[in-house]
Amino acid sequence: MPSLIAKYNVPGPRYTSYPTVPYWDLDTFSGKRWKETLKVSFDESNMEQGISVYIHLPFCESLCTFCGCHKRITKRHEVEEPYIKAVLREWRLYCDLFGSRPLVKELHLGGGTPTFFSSEHLEMLITGLFRCADRAEDYEFSFEGHPNNTTREHMQTLYDLGFRRVSFGIQDYSKSVQQAIHRIQPYGNVKNVTNWAREIGYTSVGHDLIYGLPFQHLSHVEASVVMTKSLMPDRIAFYSYAHVPWMKGSGQRGFKKSDLPSPEEKRHQYEWGRELLIKAGYEEIGMDHFALKSDSLYKALENGTIHRNFMGYTTSKTQLMIGLGVSSIGDSWYSFAQNVKSVEEYEHLVYNKIIPIYRGHILTHEDEIIRKHILNLMCRFRTTWEQEEQKFPELEHCLERLGEMDQDGLVEIRPSELIVTEKGKPFIRNICMAFDLRLQRKAPQTQLFSMTI
Ligand SMILES: C[S@@+](CC[C@H](N)C(=O)[O-])C[C@H]1O[C@@H](n2cnc3c(N)ncnc32)[C@H](O)[C@@H]1O
Ligand code: SF4
Repeated sequence: MPSLIAKYNVPGPRYTSYPTVPYWDLDTFSGKRWKETLKVSFDESNMEQGISVYIHLPFCESLCTFCGCHKRITKRHEVEEPYIKAVLREWRLYCDLFGSRPLVKELHLGGGTPTFFSSEHLEMLITGLFRCADRAEDYEFSFEGHPNNTTREHMQTLYDLGFRRVSFGIQDYSKSVQQAIHRIQPYGNVKNVTNWAREIGYTSVGHDLIYGLPFQHLSHVEASVVMTKSLMPDRIAFYSYAHVPWMKGSGQRGFKKSDLPSPEEKRHQYEWGRELLIKAGYEEIGMDHFALKSDSLYKALENGTIHRNFMGYTTSKTQLMIGLGVSSIGDSWYSFAQNVKSVEEYEHLVYNKIIPIYRGHILTHEDEIIRKHILNLMCRFRTTWEQEEQKFPELEHCLERLGEMDQDGLVEIRPSELIVTEKGKPFIRNICMAFDLRLQRKAPQTQLFSMTI
């Protein structure tokens, strides 16, 4: 195994979209085309599938020094109300554009820390949202909660508004790792929020764990998995620590690269954690994700509806996703667009009735074919090119690139199918990279992505 790790540990995307953000073609994109594709996508899919809405709530009271998310650290809670009002204004711009009431199938509050906001402000946000929209049948609303500041009131308010799924950031339970990442979070807090969620009636509680953190050892990962098991969350995200200190404002500081486990140790942490999770009754869903068989994500895997987008894995596909709030990315299926990252600029733009996007990408026909293969690999660990429309001129080259992985036992190449083996699953990002024609054509000049291991 060490030789495979040395061979395949390269910078690589996590494929929450194809093309990946650094490869967006900014020249062919315009706000006008974004709006046109949105309208087309809305008319095609709203009545049948409904739409997804992601809302980015960026504020956190304290900086966790491992964090790669887009956040703003502040203790000034006066920021809450103007921000919620700005998000509702942005939403109104989209509702006006659609011309008829959106049916919201999926709604996710991410961050930053959604539970930085008071229950009253979260209620104002959700009720405001449904002034110009309706809930689709079988709607699924979820949010990310911080175990240190999620109150029972938050949980009850959001439940009453229709939320049934929550995920909590845990990362690691050991004191030394928590100190290194500046995130002291006692087990008791996690136990409380998990129990409240169950008592109130949430049907899916998720815990996020990370391996590969500074000063983290195999014994810490083991202890964290054992403590997690004692609370039996329905889903577990077992993330590989993404070290991206070059990203502006990522806040990854306070430790050195040499404080991180080596690639071999990190892979060992993953393997051991995975084994313990499987022994505890969890199924591996896709990259980084595990779920109990009773959870809707496992059922989605079984019935083939599982999908992946900027929110990560989801139980079904909606063609249209609107991203609200700073830095959010929207996906019309034909194009992507990202919002500005500064809170001040965002609020200024929406108050002037301008959709606050600053960059995007219009998918080409080739992008659409490649996206399909990457989605198949990420969601099902296999893809096919049986049908003419699944083929593309460079397919042979892609398969040649996979030849070595075939020899290493990571994939099995059949006449019109590619299957990722059990051994290959940890290398799924590398396998997808073989299909990533934009990456193949133009190797990055500087490091853009975290390492694949
Ligand atoms: C927005 S945060 C979760 C909500 C809340 N802010 C909290 O910290 O509990 C989403 C999750 O992203 C994951 N995450 C953040 N930075 C990461 C990194 N550099 N590498 C891997 N996972 C990361 C963490 O597991 C975190 O719980
Ligand atoms: S991990 Fe969560 S609380 Fe910590 S800085 Fe990142 S978003 Fe904020």
